[in-house]
Amino acid sequence: MSFPEKLLRSKVFIWTLLVLPGLWPVWPVFVSGNPSVGADPLKYVLHHYGFVACVLLATVLAFTPLRVLFPKSKLALALNRHRRLVGVAGFAYALLHLTAYLFHDGWATLVHDVWAKPKTFILAGLGAFTILLVLAITSVNAFVRWLGGKRWKNLHRLAYLAAALAAYHQIYARKLFPVQVLWIFGPLVVLEILRVVRQRTAANPEAREKM
Ligand code: HEM
Repeated sequence: MSFPEKLLRSKVFIWTLLVLPGLWPVWPVFVSGNPSVGADPLKYVLHHYGFVACVLLATVLAFTPLRVLFPKSKLALALNRHRRLVGVAGFAYALLHLTAYLFHDGWATLVHDVWAKPKTFILAGLGAFTILLVLAITSVNAFVRWLGGKRWKNLHRLAYLAAALAAYHQIYARKLFPVQVLWIFGPLVVLEILRVVRQRTAANPEAREKM
């Protein structure tokens, strides 16, 4: 086994490279006078965790097209071993984002923005969060066995809807198009288009089924 493959198969490496780094940039909040935090540190935390949740969501969704496009690549296969870990980490960051929002704006604002005077970007965030919650819960082995492979796979396709809702939410949270959305979700869209093209041009219907 090559060294890069060994590295990518290692859970410790994925924790260090993908899961934990999202936590530490919050340290400026505790350093008074740091200009990147601004006058509202909690808002900084809220934005930061929302951003990390989107990055992890786009990253985990990119694993499958990479495997389909490079079926012989051991690196793509190694990455696919960590889909559950990275997906659940994405949900955990979304939960931190929602927690920061509740501390910042309070439950009353959430209820107001959902029921009294619905804001579409909050509804989109809530929709994405609900899907991620369901997917995180059903990632437990017992649920995978209970649902059966096909049903579980179909349910987990909702992750694409969660990504679309999260992208919409991020765009409208800023009230202007943030370039950030393009570089987070753009590569995923390109990979998915290439995957569909690859699947359509696959000569063998059995191979297409496996993709
Ligand atoms: C009930 C669920 C959610 C609520 C109530 C919520 C609330 C918010 C609010 C109020 C803002 C804008 C803050 C401001 O600048 O005024 C925001 C921004 C954002 N949210 Fe959410 N959110 C939710 C779910 C999510 C989820 C599931 C994701 C990602 C998977 C997400 C990602 C983001 C991102 C990336 C931003 C923009 C951050 C930035 O501009 O840097 N949110 N959210």
